[in-house]
Amino acid sequence: MSTVRLDYKNEHIAVLTLNRPEAANAFSLQLLADLNTALEEVEQNKELRALIITGSGEKAFCAGADLKEREHMNDDEVVATVSKIRNSVTRVEDIEIPTIAAINGAAFGGGLELALGCDIRIASEKAKVGLTETSLGIIPGAGGTQRLPNLVGLGKAKYLILTAKRLTSDEALEIGLVEEVVPSESLMDKAMEIADAIAHNGPVGVKQAKKAIQLGHQTDIQTGLKIEENCYEKTIPTEDRLEGIRAFKEKRKPQYKGK
Ligand code: COA
Repeated sequence: MSTVRLDYKNEHIAVLTLNRPEAANAFSLQLLADLNTALEEVEQNKELRALIITGSGEKAFCAGADLKEREHMNDDEVVATVSKIRNSVTRVEDIEIPTIAAINGAAFGGGLELALGCDIRIASEKAKVGLTETSLGIIPGAGGTQRLPNLVGLGKAKYLILTAKRLTSDEALEIGLVEEVVPSESLMDKAMEIADAIAHNGPVGVKQAKKAIQLGHQTDIQTGLKIEENCYEKTIPTEDRLEGIRAFKEKRKPQYKGK
């Protein structure tokens, strides 16, 4: 049985589930391999418009690195494994379509770093999140030291990483680490509602908006505005842009094709 499942809700929305509930969905080498196979399938499917990432079971979204595997690794193997986790999270961040982390339980260490690689994070009331690495004598190695400050600001990120603090989902909501908190039983419905809203928008526009935000955020304002201009230009020759204007004029919902 694969440690990662990829299910299609409809032709535009897929759900990727980390599926090692007996090990809190931790990143074993097998899970990392299966995750990359699933991500490749997502990258190649040009009909997809949104991806939801979640964990199986009620306890954990993902407990980060597999600490039982780690125990038997030499230094070189640890370096290689951390690199695999880092590259996998970056691969998630680089997916053209929006990604939504539906945090169903504990998201610690690399598990939270995976959620930080997603565009939108929602959490169940029972979820807990934290970059716990310094409590294990290491540091976040899959982008956490970079993406957490981007999201919540330097002071809060330093506080959370240096103390290895575990936050409740409400505390995470308060500092903008997650966008919404919902009861456990509503988590996937809420994730689908967000994915569905995205899927109804112009696919080229959505991808270009994501790209403009992502790339522009890492640079100065003048370069950022140039990036935005370039991304906007990609939407100009599309049928969808004309459909958007036509639908507005005809007072109906637009039917976008991603062309
Ligand atoms: N690697 C490997 N196995 C892990 C794991 C990890 N990161 N996290 C949990 N597991 C395993 C546990 O060892 C346990 O297995 P066992 O039944 O064979 O003992 C199983 O998953 C369930 O975990 P358990 O702790 O019994 O469940 P829980 O619901 O009480 O707590 C967590 C779940 C995730 C909150 C807790 O296990 C935890 O804090 N894990 C460490 C997370 C962490 O700091 N990760 C950072 C890594 S850099």
